[in-house]
Amino acid sequence: MKMKTILVIGGTGRLAQPVVQALIRAGYMVRILTRSPKQSDNAVRWQPGTLEDQDSLRTAVQDIDAVYLNLPATLNPHARFIPEWHGLQNILEVLSPTVTLLKLSEIGATDDTEFTDLRYKYYAEQLIRNSGFPYLIFRPTWFMESLPLMLTRGRFIVYGGRQRSPIYWIAGQDYAKQVIKALQQAATFGNRIFTMQGLEALTFFEAAYRYARAVDKTLQPVSAPLWMLRVYGMFSRQMRFNYEVMRYYDHRHEVFEADETWSRLGKPTITIDQFAQGYKLHSGLQPENQQTAFTRK
Ligand SMILES: NC(=O)c1ccc[n+]([C@@H]2O[C@H](COP(=O)([O-])OP(=O)(O)OC[C@H]3O[C@@H](n4cnc5c(N)ncnc54)[C@H](OP(=O)(O)O)[C@@H]3O)[C@@H](O)[C@H]2O)c1
Repeated sequence: MKMKTILVIGGTGRLAQPVVQALIRAGYMVRILTRSPKQSDNAVRWQPGTLEDQDSLRTAVQDIDAVYLNLPATLNPHARFIPEWHGLQNILEVLSPTVTLLKLSEIGATDDTEFTDLRYKYYAEQLIRNSGFPYLIFRPTWFMESLPLMLTRGRFIVYGGRQRSPIYWIAGQDYAKQVIKALQQAATFGNRIFTMQGLEALTFFEAAYRYARAVDKTLQPVSAPLWMLRVYGMFSRQMRFNYEVMRYYDHRHEVFEADETWSRLGKPTITIDQFAQGYKLHSGLQPENQQTAFTRK
């Protein structure tokens, strides 16, 4: 039987790594659209291109069965080009109608928020839902990977505000397993939105503390006041994003809503301690040690 080909857009992104690895392990042909291609091998075909250029997208989507979208966060709603909006429209224009769209979104995606990225996640979902293409949308909560890759600054794990409400942190590997299962059963599921949550509900402090205890006891969880993040946010879009995301989650109360996902796609198994042990073992503490070379064993 012919191996199915999946195009991953944003496949070099931090949170796409477990999904790409899982696709390879599950026997898919993986094609990664990127602005910085590497040498293709038997695991991955690197496809030069950009979401801004429809010609490169047209080449990238040839003979694919599905496309997985790991698009970058929207920092600037006034940008000339927003991948979640303009990029997605470009993709929709070049796809053939039988291709299934798989899209990383975020839990609680809504347009009723001042958190720009979450609003754009919602707009992207609406574009896909109205496109007529078969789709599966994944709405994960916070990835455990955020602890080392986004929140760790030197010896500190920094979050903003008090963050008293627990979050069902999910490991990238558990998320990836569920994505693969959804892809394998896409025809029977039909169009669907899955909320993805992990096993344990932990506050930012609890998650950061447990991660630090397993990885490096000298790491310290630190909460920065939101007013301080707001001031920093006046100086850069990335800082403004940090403020918006922390302010949003400081007020949010996460409830468990992944029953259907667990029953259809399997239950996550990875605790924060196991994630931390695995992270320490495989990647070291430096984000630059994260694996971006993929292998087919
Ligand atoms: N942190 C969490 O817990 C969490 C939870 C839910 C959802 N999310 C969402 O996860 C998403 C992905 O995050 P990430 O950390 O993996 O992102 P990332 O590391 O910033 O990666 C962004 C990817 O987008 C690609 N890209 C950017 N502009 C492009 C363009 N014009 N054309 C083609 N590709 C382009 C980049 O590819 P090249 O540079 O190789 O071209 C790169 O692979 C974000 O939207 C975030 O909001 C995060």
